[in-house]
Amino acid sequence: MNKESYPHMKFPLWVSRSVDETKDIYAKWAASYDVDLTQAGYESPRRIAEALKTFSPLEPSILDFGCGTGLSGQALYEVGLTKIDGMDISSEMLSIAKTRKLYNKLWLSTPGEMTNVELGQYDIIVAAGVVSLGAAPPETLSIMIDKLNPNGLIGLSYNDPTVEDGSYDKVLNEEIRLGRVAVLFRENGPHLSQKDMGSDIIILKRL
Ligand SMILES: C[S@@+](CC[C@H](N)C(=O)[O-])C[C@H]1O[C@@H](n2cnc3c(N)ncnc32)[C@H](O)[C@@H]1O
Repeated sequence: MNKESYPHMKFPLWVSRSVDETKDIYAKWAASYDVDLTQAGYESPRRIAEALKTFSPLEPSILDFGCGTGLSGQALYEVGLTKIDGMDISSEMLSIAKTRKLYNKLWLSTPGEMTNVELGQYDIIVAAGVVSLGAAPPETLSIMIDKLNPNGLIGLSYNDPTVEDGSYDKVLNEEIRLGRVAVLFRENGPHLSQKDMGSDIIILKRL
């Protein structure tokens, strides 16, 4: 599964790669991303949204980090979490997210930075399919944690190759050891159900 590509694309998806390669991939993929992911049975955004809903305060402000075309924002909306901003490093993915008209604000971000996000600005940061092999590197989790006040929540997915890789859990385990976050929920289930790929949905609380 680690080397699998989408048929119209000439690259493996779930391997680590440079920022420029990542941007190039999502620029080329943006137009067909929603169809591809829907056909593949993309379940992680729904699973994150449903898990978050059980721990969420009333009417939380949410940042959809790596919002892509907005499938993750759509899933949040569908469980009643509707106060959402989104950011992504791909202008091509963002231009599709804009057409959904469900985000209050959307902006193009710089990889590895959240400089225009204030500490405590968001109650929840979501990263569906973002902090994973083939997208943002493991240390991205720490940058997200830095922006939350105590009791803030993070909802994210690690797909199976990302869990197998180990480097993403190494960062998470260090954050737990440092007492910066606690795991409220972690469960393996379908990520791309039509491709028999799973993911761990993880809900973290900022301590
Ligand atoms: C698999 S898509 C997920 C998009 C959306 N969250 C969803 O669930 O459909 C991964 C997204 O992460 C974005 N991305 C990759 N590296 C990033 C980074 N360092 N910071 C923010 N976004 C990043 C990509 O541009 C892409 O839109």
